[in-house]
Amino acid sequence: MHKLGRSVRFSINPFLSADSLGFNAYASKPSAEGLALYFELWVELAGPVDPSTGFIVNVTEIDAAVRQYAVPVFASRLRDAFRAARHVTFAELSELLRLAWHALHDRFGPAQLSTLTLKLSPYRTLTMKSPDSNTVLFSEKFEFAATHKLWNDQFSERKNFEVFGKCANPDGHGHNYVIEVTLEIRPDTGFNVADFQKVVSDELIEFVDHKNLNTEVAEFAQSIPTVENIATFAWSRLLGKFTSGNLSKVTVWETDKTYCTYSG
Ligand code: NI
Repeated sequence: MHKLGRSVRFSINPFLSADSLGFNAYASKPSAEGLALYFELWVELAGPVDPSTGFIVNVTEIDAAVRQYAVPVFASRLRDAFRAARHVTFAELSELLRLAWHALHDRFGPAQLSTLTLKLSPYRTLTMKSPDSNTVLFSEKFEFAATHKLWNDQFSERKNFEVFGKCANPDGHGHNYVIEVTLEIRPDTGFNVADFQKVVSDELIEFVDHKNLNTEVAEFAQSIPTVENIATFAWSRLLGKFTSGNLSKVTVWETDKTYCTYSG
């Protein structure tokens, strides 16, 4: 089974009656006119690969369908909300994702929508896995800086340097880590972002930020602070701590080239 992902970037100026499409889909299409709301909608499709084209779906068809059928769902509701000076909640954004799903689901031949993700900022997304579920996935990124050393006391010094290379440097080395925490939430019952952030901050970030992971975090007296083990540690620190929503997965980036996801 193949899954194809495509992001469509679009902007809505809620104070104009319409947005001009413009000519730069890389930046945003519709393009922004003055101050506007910028979104990305990630469409993930699962389906067979057509041997005559090598495509599940031609991505230009995905772009066209999103702009024709999904963007107006968001534009129309958000214009109404802004004109009524009405706050748009996560519940309403989830409802718009559901409407967008229904508007798109039969547009791609035999391919089926697998997930639909609304990127609200570079650091926050809402993902729908099924329009029939009353839950969505809420993801947000956090950062922390830490030093670590990759070393196994059971190995000889020579073997440590063979296995871990420069990462075995006795005085350690640093990373600016990014961690994305994903919760399965029920937006209709209320979800408070500040409460979520406080849990991640108090239960995880405080323990690792500007720390020497090997010497200041008890967990890593027993395990090597690789990105894999940091993901496990983050999961165990956060599991069961959220009052609204269940932990779904954590993803830790050690660099922008390396990440590890853990979901239990
Ligand atoms: Ni490292």
